[in-house]
Amino acid sequence: MTKTLNFAAISGSLRKGSHSTSVADTLQELVPEGVTVTRHDIDDIPLYNEDIKDGDTSPQAVRDLAGKLAAADAIIVVSPEYNRGTSGVLKNTIDWMSKEPNAPFSGKPTLIITQSPGATAGLTAHYDLRQVLSVINASVQPGFEIAIGGSAGKIEDGKLTDSDTRDFITKQLKRLTETAKG
Ligand code: FNR
Repeated sequence: MTKTLNFAAISGSLRKGSHSTSVADTLQELVPEGVTVTRHDIDDIPLYNEDIKDGDTSPQAVRDLAGKLAAADAIIVVSPEYNRGTSGVLKNTIDWMSKEPNAPFSGKPTLIITQSPGATAGLTAHYDLRQVLSVINASVQPGFEIAIGGSAGKIEDGKLTDSDTRDFITKQLKRLTETAKG
């Protein structure tokens, strides 16, 4: 029997029409059979501030997300590049997660995808994320970077449509699935 797996996806962009979110929302079409991908919003995650904790307890939205990520078999982070790094909202979310008692990224198979309408494909943000996620002990999927250049021309109606890019991501999701199966 095929083992069922649940992957969690996060988009590092809050805007409607985000290319990062479109890529995240295409992943379900590209994963192997038996894998479910659920994208979790980060819109409600507040700016990191220890003063808004109630003792050791973080805001509800932070705890909810940490619970969902901790329950996932793998996490997929899809990010834009802002000024040669990841987006502030994504870094802020990772910072919150790093301080949660259940440490949802720690030891978790984690796949990074970056995209940019430009030619450089968000590769610098990609390595920014590899560094940040490695520090919090995420098990970042090694190998070729999924970095999508010219993303605006590869997405239509909120889905990634470019066939070469879809094929490449499909292969990397298969590898992630093998890693997550252990
Ligand atoms: C950008 N953009 C950008 N692109 C890039 O390739 N390298 C960069 O360093 C930056 N820097 C940057 C900074 C800021 C503040 C913004 C708002 C934008 C362009 C960015 O890649 C583009 O807007 C993407 O479409 C954003 O991703 P979403 O929102 O479509 O997911």
